[in-house]
Amino acid sequence: MAEYAFFDHHPPQTDILDEVLDGLRGEQKTLSPKFFYDEDGSRLFEAITRLPEYYLTRTELSIFDAHDADMRVRLDHRECIIEYGSGSNLKIRRLLEIAQPRAYVPVDISKEHLAENARELHEAYPQISVYPVCADFTQPIPLPPQVRGMEKTAFFPGSSIGNFEPPAAVEFLRNVAQTVGPGGQLLIGVDCAKSADVLEPAYDDAAGVTAEFNRNMLVHLNERLKADFDVDAYTHQAVYNVEAARIEMYLVARSEQRVRIGGEVIRIAAGERIHTEHSYKYAPDAFVALAEQAGFSCADVWQDERSWFAIYLLEA
Ligand code: AVI
Repeated sequence: MAEYAFFDHHPPQTDILDEVLDGLRGEQKTLSPKFFYDEDGSRLFEAITRLPEYYLTRTELSIFDAHDADMRVRLDHRECIIEYGSGSNLKIRRLLEIAQPRAYVPVDISKEHLAENARELHEAYPQISVYPVCADFTQPIPLPPQVRGMEKTAFFPGSSIGNFEPPAAVEFLRNVAQTVGPGGQLLIGVDCAKSADVLEPAYDDAAGVTAEFNRNMLVHLNERLKADFDVDAYTHQAVYNVEAARIEMYLVARSEQRVRIGGEVIRIAAGERIHTEHSYKYAPDAFVALAEQAGFSCADVWQDERSWFAIYLLEA
């Protein structure tokens, strides 16, 4: 009999003021991409995934379509699917239909978002037990006792691994390997390195949605920290750094700014850039090498016809 149970590990609410101030006091001013995702930021990111220039989401879904039969053979009847960051339900629905697991464990730090998605999936797939876990998935996660002993496949789509710096990506993958245990799997979607002509528009679209997403971080920080960023005084910039194989996003001050945050005044010179995100792009051999450092081996890789995006099946 399938069941539903919510596990709340009460991830600590970190004090973000120190982190924000630390980032703005450095030589290269920087703000963490995790500050993108307030309610408006999540809505803007959803809009990004539908933009003509942002090929990632639709290409990843097209790989599921094109390789459905093969994926069914490799993933059929895995007992437990663990999803890191419960995002758009479209992709997990595809995987649940392919794998037909007994249990589904979505893990996310945002309790409301997690509960809403998990309930929806529980109603859509009443034969699958759903055990949402509210936790910070960059740390090792305690799994519900109900899935102990089950064969596990973790799922991390969307190339979110690209937003980690490579050493942090290895650490995250190590935690996943530990969570799924020996013989466990990770199905992970990763954007491939490619020409700047394709990458830069994907992160600087004609309609200006990514620019709004980037600037919304300042709106969010104004609300959370009672700061006074003049949001319209910054332009959005996205550049592809070929050597580092990453998109770098910045907010560039149009004129000199003085920002009051938590009793401190931060001076930002005209033309100075605040770094907000890295999005690493991996050639397949580079990604497999990274996964191997974390104790995974590559069992399979599926790509679209243009080799723009890859879905890897890794084994711990
Ligand atoms: C969430 N993450 C995978 C996105 C990316 O492509 O790096 C975030 C994003 N930033 C700008 N556009 C999308």
